[in-house]
Amino acid sequence: MLNRLETQSPDALLALIKLHAEDDRADKIDLGVGVYRTGQGDTPVFAAIKAAEQRLVDNQDSKSYLGPEGDMGFVNALMPYIFGEDATMGGRIAGMQTPGGTGAVRLAAALGQKAGLERLYMGTPSWPNHAQIFGDIALEFIGFEHANADGSANIDGVLEAIRSAPANSGILLHGCCHNPTGVDYTAEHWDAIGDAIAETGIFPIIDTAYQGLGNGLEEDAAGLRSVLAKVPEAFIAYSCDKNFGMYRDRVGAFYILADDKAVLEKAFSNANALARASWSMPPDHGGAAVRVILRDSALTQMWLDELETMRERMRQVRERLAEAGQVGGIDLAPLGKQNGLFSMIPMTKEQVVELREKHGIYMAASGRLNIAGLTMANIDKFIDAVADVTG
Ligand code: LMR
Repeated sequence: MLNRLETQSPDALLALIKLHAEDDRADKIDLGVGVYRTGQGDTPVFAAIKAAEQRLVDNQDSKSYLGPEGDMGFVNALMPYIFGEDATMGGRIAGMQTPGGTGAVRLAAALGQKAGLERLYMGTPSWPNHAQIFGDIALEFIGFEHANADGSANIDGVLEAIRSAPANSGILLHGCCHNPTGVDYTAEHWDAIGDAIAETGIFPIIDTAYQGLGNGLEEDAAGLRSVLAKVPEAFIAYSCDKNFGMYRDRVGAFYILADDKAVLEKAFSNANALARASWSMPPDHGGAAVRVILRDSALTQMWLDELETMRERMRQVRERLAEAGQVGGIDLAPLGKQNGLFSMIPMTKEQVVELREKHGIYMAASGRLNIAGLTMANIDKFIDAVADVTG
């Protein structure tokens, strides 16, 4: 039976981790998978997480099951950061813990499909796993160009997609720090998107995996909040893997917005049933550590400071790249206006391979680079190498 299967190629992004590890050049640079790195090139555990984990070791009195919704203390503690002061929007939001943001996206797609969602519109390029998730559950998706050639967001493309969508369509939006382009919508864009969604009734799914890594925690939530204020229903997929540095612990949450209490309860019960059938219950440890931080003002401040350090470091790297301007055949200036861990530069697949083989610089074949892989010590090497392979 198993011989009927077709061999799948390994996930291209994850394969880069291995390729980079096998390269023994001392000055190699990893700009592949999206993890934050310090100016020394490390991805340390946040000090706030270490302190919270110590408290868990000292105080956790049971590891008994919690249920498909996971740690509701964690889910609720995050809500003011995502949704603002009125964290439930007047009782209109309910959430649950998921295995990473990926679990939340998967749950959003599956629950939408169960409720009659037939297709999803999505700006492309997007995180490659979005298409894999939707493909896996046979949910049709229709792409539109997310960004313009000058590095700005293609607002006409998204509005046209929303207005042309037939009934039973949804739209997947990135809340902030667009992966892979780094191109975010402006406040005016979000306003227009929210209005168009409200007019047409297309179902919004907002994936927020990088809150706090762009312009600030509040700033990065502004677009999402402006859409939610205008629409009757939405799903929100959230990840703490990046903004708490919990990558391998898989810390995510899924939230449902509905304008009717009975509908919200019904949708939540279906999300619970899908979670039970998919992973039964989410892993606890990471969510518990985040809950400990968010319930303690000193640990919260420690976390906020660490997040700010990350954000400022990435801003410095972006400024340095933007200053370099035209490098060989590539204009790096737009990277200064973009947000978060990623940006894309228009390199061919062959140039990406040459960058890797000749210079030991590892990037996704799409031309996406992890900004945090650059440091003041290796950025000139990167700029020179880009000039070399594209000049
Ligand atoms: C990325 O895009 O590099 C990250 O979101 C990690 C992943 O799971 O792909």
